[in-house]
Amino acid sequence: MAEINEKKRDTRKQKRKQQDGEAEKEGRNGNDREATKRSVETQTKSNPNKKFKKVFPYGNYQHYYGYRIGRDAEREEDPRIRVLKKEWFEGKDCLDIGCNSGIITIQIAKKYNCESILGIDIDSGLIKEAFWHLKKFVKMESAEKKSTYDSNVKVLQDVNGSEECATKSSDEGEDNGSSHNSSGERNLSDIVSFQQENFVRSRLPDKHYDTVLCLSVTKWIHLNWGDDGLITAFSKIWRLLRPGGIFVLEPQPWNSYEKNRKVSETTSSNYHDIEYRPDSFREILLDKIGFRRVVDLTSELSGTKAGFDRPIFAYHK
Ligand SMILES: C[S@@+](CC[C@H](N)C(=O)[O-])C[C@H]1O[C@@H](n2cnc3c(N)ncnc32)[C@H](O)[C@@H]1O
Repeated sequence: MAEINEKKRDTRKQKRKQQDGEAEKEGRNGNDREATKRSVETQTKSNPNKKFKKVFPYGNYQHYYGYRIGRDAEREEDPRIRVLKKEWFEGKDCLDIGCNSGIITIQIAKKYNCESILGIDIDSGLIKEAFWHLKKFVKMESAEKKSTYDSNVKVLQDVNGSEECATKSSDEGEDNGSSHNSSGERNLSDIVSFQQENFVRSRLPDKHYDTVLCLSVTKWIHLNWGDDGLITAFSKIWRLLRPGGIFVLEPQPWNSYEKNRKVSETTSSNYHDIEYRPDSFREILLDKIGFRRVVDLTSELSGTKAGFDRPIFAYHK
């Protein structure tokens, strides 16, 4: 990033040191394990008797998909999935940055048959929840398979008038505890995994991906780690992608930063120093990071709830 002049970088470094110091004082450590403290409860100064208001400093909301999708978020398809192209996922290694409780990660794996998908999130509580959701989806999947198998057997019995077909011993559809069923198909638990990580700071293993998702996360990275954090994240994504890989980005608009800027001292201070606003991300990703081209998927998006109608782009490495 030749254009970022040295002086500005030094000032930022100094500020970062200061912020890390503040984080330490608040009982957080450099590895961002602080996010295991899932939310901060603040009392409104104007009325001390008022209930505590929960603040989620990393956008690490609980019940996020309840708000975003609805009560039946596990069964209802996230509308964003419909704008994604099958060929970006089928048989591919994928990474979902800021996966929250894992629902969209699992739905993508299920619908598009990924080779693998790793969901990472800064909040260890959300990662626990994501594993819990994965277990639930695996159960749901084997129940669906069992009911399909049972109804196929029934049709064959009706057609043949005998039970012969059922002797074709098969444990298909049965939850036999193995990650593969009898026909060698892989279960979701074989494909999906989750890990607690701060994407900005952590050193991910030496693995490369065909597709990386970063949906509604850039604002939180930006507010917590400033312009440097954002550029670090974009460069890291580029490095993690294989040639020809896809980066799916759903950035939050600048006007939404204002609403969240006061979630912590760090975010308030970073908010004022941010120079790279979301409408410059395209230029940064194409001209500075090195992506070859971008496709705007926003017009294909429909059915998102009010407040979540954000643009979605696919950057090609
Ligand atoms: C608003 S939620 C979006 C969830 C999901 N990507 C989606 O769009 O359905 C933002 C998520 O990013 C996570 N997050 C924020 N900063 C992060 C970081 N530096 N590394 C990993 N996860 C992060 C939060 O914990 C939160 O779960």
